Amino acid sequence: MTNSNNYIIANWKMYGSIKDLKSIKKVIKISKKPNFRKTKIIYCPPFTLLNSFHELTNKTPLNVGAQNCHHNEFFGSYTGSISSNMIKSVGAKYVIIGHSENRKEGESNLIINKKIYSALSQKLKVIFCIGETLSEKKKKKTNIVLKKQINYGLKNIKNIDNIIFAYEPVWCIGTGIVPKTNDLRNNVIKIKKLIKNKFRSKDPIILYGGSVNPKNIVKFNKISEISGFLIGSASQNTNKFIDIIKKSII
Ligand code: PGA
Repeated sequence: MTNSNNYIIANWKMYGSIKDLKSIKKVIKISKKPNFRKTKIIYCPPFTLLNSFHELTNKTPLNVGAQNCHHNEFFGSYTGSISSNMIKSVGAKYVIIGHSENRKEGESNLIINKKIYSALSQKLKVIFCIGETLSEKKKKKTNIVLKKQINYGLKNIKNIDNIIFAYEPVWCIGTGIVPKTNDLRNNVIKIKKLIKNKFRSKDPIILYGGSVNPKNIVKFNKISEISGFLIGSASQNTNKFIDIIKKSII
């Protein structure tokens, strides 16, 4: 891993209820061990659990994030939506933006750009998801798609100090399929190059996401260009998640 922190982010998606909080205590215990000092563990539960997660993990090394936010930073007549200000107010420090499951529901690069802008204005750290679909990959459009997602998603954003990138090929999410190690490494290198050119920045933080599990994490962990993982279904099972955390120590 090239960055000083190793990020392990749990994306619980539309799963989880108040009774699942008990199992997090095991993860808290592990996170306090000296070996895990450089591992940043971030839980992104559904909105309904954000405050409870914050209360449970406040004063522990664990961090909490939301899975999305509205593009309006504060308040408004947007039934069913949650703003970045509201997320911040319940103690979350991170927010996932641009997840392919939301892009699929119609979230455009333009909206994603507004959401990123609103989250950064509220001093949230953004976990910005990018990735190509299977048909884009088959048509050899991966590079164009990634470039477009980065350029439009980050339009008028001045610096990326508070942005973590998550490369999530859509064809790998929830499918059990993962990219070949070399292809993954090459795509991550390309993404880094695009970002560094655009922002004249230091090495950006790039995570991988898509069907990560306690087995395949071992080979992904060897890709030094990757600084951690965004984990969906395996993060909902605390034993599997702990296994992943243990195997990803840097
Ligand atoms: P998965 O999901 O690990 O279940 O493939 C990853 C994600 O959607 O972020």
